[in-house]
Amino acid sequence: MTTTVIENIALLVTHDDERPERTDAALVIDDGRVAWVGDARDAPAADLSLDAGGGCVIPGFVDSHAHLMFAGDRADEFEARMAGRTYEAGGIRRTVAATRAATDEQLLANAARLMSELRSQGSTTVEIKSGYGLSVADEERSVRLAATLTPEVTFLGAHVVPAEFLNGTVADDRDAYVDLVVGEMLDACAPHARWIDVFCETGAFTVEESRRILEAGIAKGLGARVHAAQLGESDGVRLAVELGAASVDHGTFLTDRDIEVLAGSNTVATLLPGVEFSTRQPYPDVRRLLDAGATVALATDCNPGSSFTTSMPFCLAVAVRDMGFTPAEALRAATLGGAAALRREDVGHLRLGARADLLVLDAPTYVHFAYRPGVPIIRDVLSA
Ligand code: NIG
Ligand code: FE
Repeated sequence: MTTTVIENIALLVTHDDERPERTDAALVIDDGRVAWVGDARDAPAADLSLDAGGGCVIPGFVDSHAHLMFAGDRADEFEARMAGRTYEAGGIRRTVAATRAATDEQLLANAARLMSELRSQGSTTVEIKSGYGLSVADEERSVRLAATLTPEVTFLGAHVVPAEFLNGTVADDRDAYVDLVVGEMLDACAPHARWIDVFCETGAFTVEESRRILEAGIAKGLGARVHAAQLGESDGVRLAVELGAASVDHGTFLTDRDIEVLAGSNTVATLLPGVEFSTRQPYPDVRRLLDAGATVALATDCNPGSSFTTSMPFCLAVAVRDMGFTPAEALRAATLGGAAALRREDVGHLRLGARADLLVLDAPTYVHFAYRPGVPIIRDVLSA
């Protein structure tokens, strides 16, 4: 196996418990794993060497929340929101219509293009959700195609109740849709997925419906994750914790009780700055979560409705500017936090044995993600 030493690193972020950051460092990669970390002057010889050019080296971002399996565009909704309209979950049905009309090749090509955007902006681990098919066949192909792009595939058949179950074309009964999700649709999708998710919100699924859907997924061996408290306060956060969900995502409207419950659990609070940015909702204040001791992640929520960004650097900039994160906390949330939200130990850090997924920056420190917003400071993206 070829070994590679990365030299001339001004600042190396490993998230090592004792020494999370070190200056004038070097790092050796062997067989796709971090094999040595130390002072530059002690670096061992290796087969290849990479000069970091006096830049900063950080773990690759772990984007634990992205909806990439869709077709179509909703720029007109964004434009209307910027003119004062509010965001509504119902817009999802427009993307469902476009997604159903797309071929497998079109769906996969769109997702692959978004994956390459994500990667070039530093995301080396990405979760992909279904949720714009909402029929057995369209959800099945969404998770099956997603599994060709990432191991972190999430079945989100419970995104909204599709139109044909509301207007009587198939059944005038949302219960019939929930029956389908926990029955035939889950059976078809579970073999391709690691996770099950529910949009637990007004206009989508109630807490009781969400419980039923998540419990069915858990019984099939899937891990749970929940969209909750995006549009208002909700019992969905407590449901997520009660069911041992890996993550509860959005948290735009968290109550003190939600924060207390999250802090006493191993459910990660995943914040999605792109959503508040693109919907003009208030930004959640991360200090409440961090001071209480909750684990926090940052993710893009890349989707055509509420947050059409593939840029974790953009999310870091907004998190620092508007959500109360320090730059170090934002970086931690976008790497280690995302890994915790996916229950992954091998990514999100550069301790010995970690996957060698890392970013070489054209900047002396990761503070530049917020200090130089919108500037492409990632020079190299390496992954195992
Ligand atoms: O995470 N909240 C639910 N789902 C997406 C939005 C989907 C859409 O509007 O198309 C989200 O924000
Ligand atoms: Fe989402």
